[in-house]
Amino acid sequence: MEVMVTGRLPEEVLALLKKAHRVEVNPEDRPMAREWLLQRIVEKEGLLCMVTDRVDAELLQRAPRLKMIANLGVGYDNIDLGAATLAHIPVSNTPGVLTAATADIAFTLILAVARRVVEGDKRTRAGEFRFWAPLVFLGREVSGKTLGIIGLGRIGRAVAKRARGFDMQVLYFNRHRLTPDEEKALGVEFADLPALLSRADFVSLHVPLTRETRHLINRETLGWMKPDALLINTSRGPVVDEQALLEALRDGTISGAGLDVYEREPDLTAGLIDLDNVVLLPHVGSATLETRTQMGQLAAQNLLAGLRGERPPNCLNWEDLHK
Ligand code: DGY
Repeated sequence: MEVMVTGRLPEEVLALLKKAHRVEVNPEDRPMAREWLLQRIVEKEGLLCMVTDRVDAELLQRAPRLKMIANLGVGYDNIDLGAATLAHIPVSNTPGVLTAATADIAFTLILAVARRVVEGDKRTRAGEFRFWAPLVFLGREVSGKTLGIIGLGRIGRAVAKRARGFDMQVLYFNRHRLTPDEEKALGVEFADLPALLSRADFVSLHVPLTRETRHLINRETLGWMKPDALLINTSRGPVVDEQALLEALRDGTISGAGLDVYEREPDLTAGLIDLDNVVLLPHVGSATLETRTQMGQLAAQNLLAGLRGERPPNCLNWEDLHK
């Protein structure tokens, strides 16, 4: 069959697909232009897409032969799942394999913002490290502080585990509350959103982007945070109202932020880059060679299963397709 892969992947991943199918790969390390994808998808039976590709009703209409969509990513807000289901197409994602890498980057941001790592590096390179003194380059202690985790799925739990190593008290807010035994095992305490935001020194976001979570962090909820609190976002940009965040960082409503994702990626709200109290990363939560290889392998396995007419291991709409 004809397969479209919209981003460059490790050769061993492409080899899996090439054994069974004719594969066209976007050769560039940048998202495929929409018009090009709309043109190339016409003849394709399989699509292995990136989280940067919008897979919507328009694209599905152009792809009458499409039998399977495998997303390279755990978040799938880029795909109109309802439209794919209406078109009888299974859709899969890549959960699990990127949990550790993404939790690591959340913790990297916690430490980097609290200890002013990027600012320190910049100032050292600029020749501003001239002497040691007790009250210069002061950051904030991470160990022993309170971390609030919003969204306690796989990645949120992995962040909670890391926080235990830093003797942190961990609060969580989630749609479903854990059982007391689960809370005890993970060392976490449930708090509703206002309580979590008003108690936490660090707030880390781990929710998927849905209608309910869009702008969950906005002018009002930022106002519930402590003035010395830090916000970390490694989930999806639109979970945060970025203009409201910019204003909160400028006027001292909160004291810093670490961001890996943005509301209008890859564009940043004007003014963000001028602030010293933010650390900005280019959506690299899962960006290790090991993790990206595993994501590719999982996406390929899903695609191959779907094209064989079997249930893909990480199918998101199988039940809906077989009602
Ligand atoms: C995901 O998997 O959703 C990530 O954002 C891609 O790194």
